Amino acid sequence: MKQTPADKAAARVAKLRELINEYRYNYHVLDTSIMSESAADSLKHELQQLETTYPELITPDSPTQRVAGKPLPGFTQVRHTARMLSLNDVFDAEEIEAWVGRLRKLAPEWEPEFFADVKMDGLACALWYEDGVLQKAVTRGDGFVGEDVTMNVRTMDSVPTRLRTAAGFETFLHGRTEIRGEIIIYKKDFEALNKKRAAAGDPLYANPRNLAAGSIRQLDPKLAAARPLRFRGYDLRRDDPDDVPTVAYAYEAIRALGLAANNKAEVVRSVDQIMKLAARWEKMRSELPYNIDGLVIKVNDRELFARLGVVGKAPRAAVAYKYAAEEATTVVQDIVLSIGRTGAATPVAVFDPVQVAGTTVQHASLHNADEIVRKDIRVGDTVVIFKAGDIIPQVSKVLTKLRPKGTKPFNMEAELARQYPELEFVRPEGEAVYRVKNTSGALLLKRALMHYASKSAMDIDTLGEKNVIALVDAGLVKDMADIYALTKEQVLQLDRFADVSASNLTEAIKAAKEPELPRFIYGLGIRHVGQQTAIDLAEHFGSVHKLAEATLDELLQVEGIGDTVAESILAWFADEDNAALLKKFEELGVHPHYESHARGPLHGKSFVITGGLEHGSRDEFADTIRALGGTFQTSVGKDTSYLVVGKNVGASKLAKAEKLGTAQISEDDLRGMLEVK
Ligand code: IVH
Repeated sequence: MKQTPADKAAARVAKLRELINEYRYNYHVLDTSIMSESAADSLKHELQQLETTYPELITPDSPTQRVAGKPLPGFTQVRHTARMLSLNDVFDAEEIEAWVGRLRKLAPEWEPEFFADVKMDGLACALWYEDGVLQKAVTRGDGFVGEDVTMNVRTMDSVPTRLRTAAGFETFLHGRTEIRGEIIIYKKDFEALNKKRAAAGDPLYANPRNLAAGSIRQLDPKLAAARPLRFRGYDLRRDDPDDVPTVAYAYEAIRALGLAANNKAEVVRSVDQIMKLAARWEKMRSELPYNIDGLVIKVNDRELFARLGVVGKAPRAAVAYKYAAEEATTVVQDIVLSIGRTGAATPVAVFDPVQVAGTTVQHASLHNADEIVRKDIRVGDTVVIFKAGDIIPQVSKVLTKLRPKGTKPFNMEAELARQYPELEFVRPEGEAVYRVKNTSGALLLKRALMHYASKSAMDIDTLGEKNVIALVDAGLVKDMADIYALTKEQVLQLDRFADVSASNLTEAIKAAKEPELPRFIYGLGIRHVGQQTAIDLAEHFGSVHKLAEATLDELLQVEGIGDTVAESILAWFADEDNAALLKKFEELGVHPHYESHARGPLHGKSFVITGGLEHGSRDEFADTIRALGGTFQTSVGKDTSYLVVGKNVGASKLAKAEKLGTAQISEDDLRGMLEVK
């Protein structure tokens, strides 16, 4: 019999759904992609059209049915089929030992075997599937009764509306399959959202968990759909418990059925192994895409798990091993302002260094003036620091009871004027940030690049003003590090370049991948960090990493560095964009190196040159002085050892040196000291 158009449509619809689901599964569960997003969109579009023409083909599990429906008046309460339990906490090896001891007493014949996974910091949710099709999603609630959040969960791409068919796991497509797990938000998604809110002057979300919980409880599914929620399973239940013999098997089944479950979760057999695993995960913690607050250790044998029973709200057969606190308190020493790559001024709190979640933290972005006013953060305040998204430190609140007398509310405009007297700022209508007036990101980038490439910095002579302008305007270079990713082919696209000039440029940039540390530091363009300061910083810290981690006190120990310079350095390294820039330099193979000149013959001697020179330029002499361990200064001060007097020097120039009693020498004397014969 001939196929009718409706038959054809039905066949096509089935195929489209299969492929769209495959794409979704690869993208959201496996983190891989089988086609571009736009290709997937156009398949969805075709499916949508077919379903509009043939509405009888619409099924609840069609990918088109993920669209956010109408807002709900309230959530319906749903009784869980089996209670959703919580876990007892343990904090060290001894407590785990004790727990295992209790289990062995209750099950003397048992050979300890556990399944260990990270404890994700989100909210628990149960997904009910009937014959493989998603029916309901229910929050934990009080463990007995939760809320029906199906409308919102349906919008999540990591939750299949129909379970995948996988060889060996067919049983789960028949009857009731319940998959429990955690709804989480990735750290990077959380940070991106908060960045947008900061720019718009909206209050920031406290942490990914609260945001996930708040999002899933939105009555309007459109709002939930707009949040980057993800599901990761940790439990699978069937009416017949024999379908799932071990926890490890449950994880395998969850993955086979098309959901995400940690594939690094593993079977362990002793307290020793548990502790080793805990240490390993704790180290990897910051690299995980989501927040964790410890490990969950479960008896692997599910029959025994059930037999061991429940005490209070928690099963005997599982515990949560919790990591050390995520929050710490410290005192705000200063609030410095950093001018980012777009000209936006970001306030940064500098505090007494403190340990938070395993690393030392000494500054945190305060995002914008409104945020400071909202939290009323002042210099001198004791504040609570936490790591948002596990990496970036944030001030969560001020402990106002500990506020010393005489503190003043932060005044952004007054601080801008104090820290940047030479600049004018505007706060564009509707924006929360102050920006440098009459500038743009492109303009600042051009200036920064010209400085970076300049003779005293990286000395890339083919990267002059005209080339910088051409590269930035063409969009080939979006930040300073981008120059290292330029290819000859890209450069050749520009009118200015021919074969030889394009090679010259890319070769010169490549040759600048191992700069001397002082030149690199100087080239970063940190305000108040001139060539000599860059040398002093290089000498004191020896690497960009060490400099980036320097505390206010450490910076002040460097000779010649006072409050203003230290503040400016801190502000630069505290800026998230700058941190990202440094990482990018590193990834692109830029490795500054440093050889100390401290033991050179001119160590401890400082020079100022005034007047014209006969045997070289001022810069050349400066380089030689520095290479021999001396310091080159631009004006005479108390710490100047020699004033080199060249030709045609006005009397007034010498007056200061005379007043300070600075030794005056000639160009020839200097050449003698430098042994330039
Ligand atoms: S298993 C019997 N595994 O932690 C309870 N829970 O305090 C079985 N959680 O509400 C829970 N990651 O939402 C398990 N890998 C994981 C988990 C996990 C996070 C949450 C869960 C539960 C809470 C227990």
